[in-house]
Amino acid sequence: MTALTIRRPDDWHLHLRDGAELAAVLPFSAARFARAIVMPNLKPAVTSTAQALDYRRRVLAALPAGAAFEPLMTLYLTDDTPAAEVERARASGCVFGFKLYPAGATTHSESGVTDIRHIMPVLERMAELGVVLQVHGEVTDPAVDVFEREPRFIERTLAPLVERLPQLRIVFEHITTRAAVNFVLGARAGVAATVTPQHLLMNRNALFAGGIRPHHYCAPVLKAEAERAALLSAVTRGSARFFLGTDSAPHARRAKETACGCAGIFSAHAGIELYAEAFEAAGALDKLEGFAARHGADFYGLPHNAATLTLVREPWKVPDHYPFGADQLVPLRAGERIAWRLAPPTARPHP
Ligand code: NCD
Ligand code: ZN
Repeated sequence: MTALTIRRPDDWHLHLRDGAELAAVLPFSAARFARAIVMPNLKPAVTSTAQALDYRRRVLAALPAGAAFEPLMTLYLTDDTPAAEVERARASGCVFGFKLYPAGATTHSESGVTDIRHIMPVLERMAELGVVLQVHGEVTDPAVDVFEREPRFIERTLAPLVERLPQLRIVFEHITTRAAVNFVLGARAGVAATVTPQHLLMNRNALFAGGIRPHHYCAPVLKAEAERAALLSAVTRGSARFFLGTDSAPHARRAKETACGCAGIFSAHAGIELYAEAFEAAGALDKLEGFAARHGADFYGLPHNAATLTLVREPWKVPDHYPFGADQLVPLRAGERIAWRLAPPTARPHP
């Protein structure tokens, strides 16, 4: 096969940042994805509907001319989020979920939730109104091994929550383990998960290939090969419970290449191409469209995109870095090849 045409995909987990950084990364996502769930972990965090609407306007203003891209906004849950915010968010028509960051779990999660009991009234209101909860599923207990934080979160927090609020719609974000795959497959209706390209393509050896590799560091951290294989096998079997969420998380080169580097991998420059590689390696390119363009929309109750996107099997070399405000951005596969290339959009025939 040399070309693959699919319905235009959506990215159900994306970090767009703000200001000059937003302007630098947004065109990559807008060229590939019709819609994206935009994460709220700015500094300060996007905690109110009013802030989300402002942020949405900044995203729309930063779009390249002619781009067709819809940002789907989210709010950042804190211990103090009022239940009334759920109604405001819902009424806005522009907010598509609330993100739960356990305090301290990842980049800009300082103001996250310290104990899920603090937000039960908010979660109950979300369940009533059908508003989606997006979960960063890792415990923050420093006594727990970093590779075990996702399985422990399932046991301690997620499984009890799923049972306690049977109507709550939950996306377990960027899952990385067989335990998470099995949990999602066995859970009640209304529980799904996003999967990143890095967790399908790399295992934890990639963090230490010839030396320490800060650009392969993200949260949740890359896992062992058996976990990667379980994820790839899950998404390529075609279950509607799994869908595309790049978790593309750009950080300035300076903030990555340092003694205490930030978590986050930038992948938006090849946000669909990398998944094509992973699905091709599993002999499952026929399952890519469901994962990238249907399952997520169905979960969020949104229409499928009408437009299409074509990928060509033609390797290209990823630049060493892209401009990023006053700094540089080192993308996933910097200086290396990616097997699939995005075909330029073909002009729509006149009606
Ligand atoms: C994300 C970021 O940089 O905002 N980093 C990451 O490693 N994924 C935060 C997150 O999604 O956990
Ligand atoms: Zn993220």
